Amino acid sequence: MGNHDSTETQMSNNIHVSFSKNAKTYDDYNIVQNWVVKELIGQIVDQPASILDIGCGSGAVYKNIDWQCDHFVAIDFAQTMLDIHPQDDKTILLLKDFNDPDCFDRFQSGEFDRIISASALQWANDLDDLLGKIKRLHAPVSLAIFTSRTFRTLHQTATISSPLRSLDEVQTLAQNYFSANYTQLNYQLHFSSVRDMFRYIKRSGVNGGTERLSYKQMRYLMDHYPLDYLEFEILLIHEE
Ligand SMILES: C[S@@+](CC[C@H](N)C(=O)[O-])C[C@H]1O[C@@H](n2cnc3c(N)ncnc32)[C@H](O)[C@@H]1O
Repeated sequence: MGNHDSTETQMSNNIHVSFSKNAKTYDDYNIVQNWVVKELIGQIVDQPASILDIGCGSGAVYKNIDWQCDHFVAIDFAQTMLDIHPQDDKTILLLKDFNDPDCFDRFQSGEFDRIISASALQWANDLDDLLGKIKRLHAPVSLAIFTSRTFRTLHQTATISSPLRSLDEVQTLAQNYFSANYTQLNYQLHFSSVRDMFRYIKRSGVNGGTERLSYKQMRYLMDHYPLDYLEFEILLIHEE
């Protein structure tokens, strides 16, 4: 556990609101994650040569790195994702579950110049424990974590609680380990039909909580959802 008192924190007041014209094609399912990656990578100015990417997916982080990187280790527990991740002499792709207790054992403290994770750690079973393991690798972090006001109106309409941790909860946990800047991102993703919106929720890889709804509850939600957009809230945790 880190030392609370020595941790300097600063919450950025900037709330980013972005809009998509229309989200209905397959490529659009990663649209919010792509906005998040650009914000996250945009904060990195130290040009780290050795990077660990946790929950790498199809490689959005790697694809957005615009500096010389010599050693890029990417982990994901979905082989289908690793199969479409870019691969070259700098990348090492590892099939690993970050919830496994020994997930990070093979890495040396100081092996990485920066640890990045974009839109994946909201899936951590025990975020406190996972952040502690990341801290023990002794590298500055850039983490983006979806938080509970994602799909806020949808949860209110369906009268269910968010499966995600609140922004305050995630920030409080992170402050135990990292001397970081915190930025809140808010996005709205617009849709031309309710059907497209719910298809997006199913396929986007964001933990929405709608999978817990019965058919009847889902029908009610589709008939009564008052907006033509979905809301997203993300916390960026960035160490200089
Ligand atoms: C929303 S995607 C984000 C992918 C990529 N980082 C990006 O920004 O586009 C979340 C990724 O985390 C991976 N993931 C979820 N839980 C995981 C776990 N327990 N261990 C490893 N990877 C996990 C998923 O397979 C998926 O590729």
